[in-house]
Amino acid sequence: MSALPRPAAARRSALSPRQWVSEELFDFWAGHVHPLWTLRRPRATLVSRHAASADAVTLVLRPNRHFRGVTAGQHVNLGVEVDGRRLTRSYSPTLLDDGCLAITIKAVHGGKVSQYLAQQAPLGVVVELGQAFGEMTLPATLPARLLLLAAGSGITPMRALLRQLDQAGMPARVDLVYWAQQRDALCFAEEFSAIAARHPGFTLHLALTRDPVAPAARVDGYDFRALGALADAQVMACGPGGFVDAARARLDGQVAALQFEAFTPPVLPDAETGTVRVELRRSGRTLELPRGTSLLQALEAEGLRPASGCRMGICNTCVCGKASGVTRHTLTGEYAAEPATQVKLCVNSASTDLILEL
Ligand SMILES: Cc1cc2nc3c(=O)[nH]c(=O)nc-3n(C[C@H](O)[C@H](O)[C@H](O)COP(=O)(O)OP(=O)(O)OC[C@H]3O[C@@H](n4cnc5c(N)ncnc54)[C@H](O)[C@@H]3O)c2cc1C
Ligand code: FES
Repeated sequence: MSALPRPAAARRSALSPRQWVSEELFDFWAGHVHPLWTLRRPRATLVSRHAASADAVTLVLRPNRHFRGVTAGQHVNLGVEVDGRRLTRSYSPTLLDDGCLAITIKAVHGGKVSQYLAQQAPLGVVVELGQAFGEMTLPATLPARLLLLAAGSGITPMRALLRQLDQAGMPARVDLVYWAQQRDALCFAEEFSAIAARHPGFTLHLALTRDPVAPAARVDGYDFRALGALADAQVMACGPGGFVDAARARLDGQVAALQFEAFTPPVLPDAETGTVRVELRRSGRTLELPRGTSLLQALEAEGLRPASGCRMGICNTCVCGKASGVTRHTLTGEYAAEPATQVKLCVNSASTDLILEL
């Protein structure tokens, strides 16, 4: 016996919303009913905020059901509206036992998103949340020694990693060297001391570079000999671009493995000068953009708002098609001349005239 054809109305009702309406349209109207309702986009509610240091706060965010979770050491993009503009930045969360995300944000002087999140964002506000990304995670097989180096807000992924190691019973010898200018700039110092008290295998080394009594050396002059032999250590370092570069220069060749993540991009010393013509094929515009400036920054300076996230070449949010022209990678200085390829706008500048699929 063959199945009877169902009436048209029944067939229609079997379709999921994503088959009869665009994601943008669904999210727009569902968002009017409840800001957390989306078809598949993760969003999160700000549920609390407390001081983490003299210039940093910890925000607790509750994600909606579309957030797929985070591995310790990874990052997420947060999208917020500041002065009528939607801005996105990356942050390194710690997953709490109740599924919420704790995000510690250093209020950067003049920084748009960090200042907004640290001081103005009202409790209950809903923010855009990207899925987690990043490779700053513990390897499946831990090395015998792990050396964690952090400066400034670079401590945030280290906190997540240390909580994971703590819960696993500290299965390796771990040292954390944490640089800050002064004691009141330290985040999680008590939490780290408590972990050290629980696990003799973990040692916390605080390096206060402006300590009035005994100022510590910066990473380039730091005496790592006090930590013992490091030849078999895996090093994970995180912080501002200059810190990460100095740590790499200092330890390269002396340890088993080096893993780095910078929270601010380094600036190429020999940046190109002058301008080039950049054709935006989809929007039908042609712009005169400076060489030596990332395409993302240059387009934003022209009033455009290409999708972006980490602004560091990590999250892939800003990838766009390049039909032709030469770009230069702002971190490595390498040129890419292949036509019909993809380019990350945040870490590439225009070297010649370009055609972009924007
Ligand atoms: C993968 C990744 C993870 C990150 N995780 C965290 C985190 O957990 N906590 C955190 O506080 N930050 C983190 N950051 C930095 C964060 O994404 C923002 O760059 C930072 O909050 C500043 O954004 P803003 O909008 O306030 O500043 P902007 O308005 O973008 O910049 C204002 C000025 O500040 C400078 N600046 C930008 N970022 C920094 C910085 N980090 N330190 C010093 N000066 C800066 C800029 O060069 C500019 O001159 C992370 C960055 C990356 C790439
Ligand atoms: S904004 Fe993340 S890769 Fe460009």
